[in-house]
Amino acid sequence: MDPLLQKVYDIQKEEMKECARHLMLGGGTRGGPVLKRGKGCWVEDIDGNRYIDCTSQSWALYLGYANDDINRIVYEHSQNLTHVHQGFDTLPRFALAKKLAGIAPEELNRVSFTVGGGPAIEAAMKIALKNREEAQEFICLYDSYHGVTLGTMGASWVSTMASGKFIGGSRFTRLTRQFIRVPNPYCYRCPLDLDRKNCEMMCLTLLKKTVEKGVNGPTTAIILEPLQASGGQIIFPKEYLQGVRDLCDELGIVLIYDEIQTYARIGSFFADGYYGVAPDIIVLGKGLGAGFPIGAIIISDKLKGFDPDSEELHTFANNSVSQVASLKLIDLLEKGVLENCRKMGEYLGRELRKLQKEFPQMGDVRQAGLHIGVELVNDPVTREPGTRLMSEVRKAGFGNGIFFGVGGMAKNVLKIKPPLIITRDEADTVLERFRKSLVSSIERSVKK
Ligand SMILES: Cc1ncc(COP(=O)(O)O)c(C=O)c1O
Repeated sequence: MDPLLQKVYDIQKEEMKECARHLMLGGGTRGGPVLKRGKGCWVEDIDGNRYIDCTSQSWALYLGYANDDINRIVYEHSQNLTHVHQGFDTLPRFALAKKLAGIAPEELNRVSFTVGGGPAIEAAMKIALKNREEAQEFICLYDSYHGVTLGTMGASWVSTMASGKFIGGSRFTRLTRQFIRVPNPYCYRCPLDLDRKNCEMMCLTLLKKTVEKGVNGPTTAIILEPLQASGGQIIFPKEYLQGVRDLCDELGIVLIYDEIQTYARIGSFFADGYYGVAPDIIVLGKGLGAGFPIGAIIISDKLKGFDPDSEELHTFANNSVSQVASLKLIDLLEKGVLENCRKMGEYLGRELRKLQKEFPQMGDVRQAGLHIGVELVNDPVTREPGTRLMSEVRKAGFGNGIFFGVGGMAKNVLKIKPPLIITRDEADTVLERFRKSLVSSIERSVKK
């Protein structure tokens, strides 16, 4: 091993405290284990404890930790190229652009690469602005999350009081105000207090009214996550997306799907495969590079694209290593991983629904592929959010060797989003550890 790496691996707890004094974080919940090494769905901390990871590290490690196929191709290619200026063509970039266009919905054929999720959303916004010259405002949904760059933060719930108080994003609104929000189709907890059986898609009606009466000038674009992830693993009714599509077609509004979290994890490459409704622009990030940093947009043939005169130029937008990782991931997805994602997702969803009969605290189980959310409640009738219970379950999970994600405005949605390679045995381990964590947490939260 490189002696420098060995020295880093040998850092002891006392020195870690000193190191931590120099580290400044703008987000993320610290205080969990310090991670040392991982393989597949499993990760080990510096004390030797092992965890099954249902967060896939920001939901991005689609093939898990230290995947041999990815590591091999990355190592081989990095002997030749790593960082390349955006102005130089390379074979991996050509290959990845062609491949993404090939698997995307029919009319989405041009790809622009960038450095991550937030910048990719901004790239989509630029394309929309370029195609709607007279327009300036964007519509997004309640509880949406599209990043925290200055260009995207105003579209993310972190800029609002949605979580019950103003947090991070609200400090920067002077520079982030291009967005108008409309109610999201969150049927379990309708923001309009309506019942799905007779709501007549009032949220869609309000979107239409907002376009007519709530926006100054024409609407540039509607940006949405086809499955709201951070907002609480909210799966949309297909009719909602179809209604949005029809509205955009009628008025020439650009429809942007933020697929940074749905890409492949929803059980098909794109949300169009799940809902049957395609957007004009797809935005990608996170899992696209199997853990290596890369973002991208894929745009419709009917839209004007970028011109190479500094409209969209980033030093690291042509990361050749991430591109080969991304190509290898697509290959493996096609050769069985996508199918595994669907199968294991359905299995986990089914088993969680069985558990729900035993535990009324599991208010709602939402599953699409390996996008799984369990909305915890204190009472299934009032649906009072089980915020404390969620926090207890997450903590208990650390003790029981499992990482859970947390979502939802009330932080009461438990997220199970493991690597897409999870096996049946590992899925059973997740179920067993979830059950154990839930039981002890219910006991503890009742006592408190
Ligand atoms: C749906 C969605 N959009 C955008 C982003 C922002 O991506 P990044 O953190 O890579 O900037 C995220 C990140 O969590 C996300 O989940």
